[in-house]
Amino acid sequence: MTSSTQTTVTVLGLGAMGRALAAAFVAAGHPTTVWNRSPGKDADLIARGATSVATAAEAVRASDLVVGCLFDHGSVHEVLDPVAGLLAGRPLVNLTSTEPAGARELATWAAANGIPFLDGGIMATPEMIGRPGSALLYSGSSDVFDTFRDVLESLGTAEYFGADAGRASLVDFALLSGMYVMFAGYYHGAAMVREIGMSAEEFGNRAASWLAALLPSLPAAGAQIDTGDYSQVLQPLTFTKAALDAIVSASRDAGVDLDIVGPVRDLVDRQIAAGYGAQSSERAFESLNPRPRIAS
Ligand SMILES: NC(=O)c1ccc[n+]([C@@H]2O[C@H](COP(=O)([O-])OP(=O)(O)OC[C@H]3O[C@@H](n4cnc5c(N)ncnc54)[C@H](OP(=O)(O)O)[C@@H]3O)[C@@H](O)[C@H]2O)c1
Repeated sequence: MTSSTQTTVTVLGLGAMGRALAAAFVAAGHPTTVWNRSPGKDADLIARGATSVATAAEAVRASDLVVGCLFDHGSVHEVLDPVAGLLAGRPLVNLTSTEPAGARELATWAAANGIPFLDGGIMATPEMIGRPGSALLYSGSSDVFDTFRDVLESLGTAEYFGADAGRASLVDFALLSGMYVMFAGYYHGAAMVREIGMSAEEFGNRAASWLAALLPSLPAAGAQIDTGDYSQVLQPLTFTKAALDAIVSASRDAGVDLDIVGPVRDLVDRQIAAGYGAQSSERAFESLNPRPRIAS
C-alpha cells in the first residue's frame, strides 16, 4: 500500500464527475494531469494546480496511475484503444459506469494489452467526492487496489469486491436499482396527492421522513431472504396484498397510472397464487426468480 502523496495521477475525462475526481486528487496533494476530448473544462483545475495536456497519449505518459471517467463503455474504448500500447504496464482504474459484462470485457482487453486493471463504481455525486459519505466500489486487480488504495481513498471510502472485474459494477447497479425504484415510488405518491393540492415538494418532505424511518429494517428483511425461510411473519403476504389492492384502487380513483405500483402487487399476487399467503411479505422476493442461494 502506498501512502505517498507524490503518486502522480492522470484523469481522462473532465465531465462533472471527472472534474470532481481530479479536484480531489489535487486537494490530496497528488500531482494531477488532466485531459478532456473538448477543450475548456480544465480552467478551474489548472487554477488549483493540475496540469492539463492536449492529448490522451500525453496524459497517459504523465502519471503512475491513470483514472478514466468517460461517458460509457464505448467512449472508454474510443479513448483508450489508440493509447493501449502506452498503457502497457501502467495501472488503469476505470471509473466510467459500465455494466458488469462491460467491466469484464475491459478487464479482458486490459489483460491482452498488459495493463493492470481495476474497475470502479462511484456511489456519490460529484459534490460528494472527497467528502464523508462518498463511497467507491472496486473489483479487478488486487495489486492495483492494494498499491493505490490510499490514493483512491482521496475520492471516498474504497472497498474491494474481488478479482472478477464485474463485481463492483454489479453491486453498483444493484444499489442504483434500489435508488431508482424508490424514487419512482415517490413519484407515484406525489402523483396521488396532487389530487388534494399537496405539492410534490411537501410530499417529498413527508416521504423522506417515512422512508428514512423504514430503511433500517432492510437488513432484517435480507436475513429472511437469505435463509429462504419466511415462516417468521411480521406482516403476511395477504396483509400486504390488501394494502396494495387499496393503493391500486386509490390510484385509479386519483387518475394515476399503475406502471409503478401494479408490478409490485404482481410480485405479491404470484406468491399468494402459489399458496404462500400466510408467509412473510418478504417472500415477494421469490417472484423475481433469483438464482439458487449460494451456501454461506
Ligand atoms: N455525475 C454523477 O453523479 C455520477 C455518479 C456516479 C457515476 N458517474 C459516472 O461517471 C461517468 C462520467 O459522468 P459525468 O457526470 O462526468 O458525465 P458528463 O458530465 O456527461 O461527462 C462525460 C465525459 O465523457 C466524455 N466523453 C463522452 N463521450 C466521449 C468520447 N466518445 N470520447 C472521449 N470523451 C468522451 C466527455 O467529453 P466532452 O467534454 O468532450 O463531451 C466528458 O468528459 C459516467 O459513466 C457516469 O455514469 C457519474
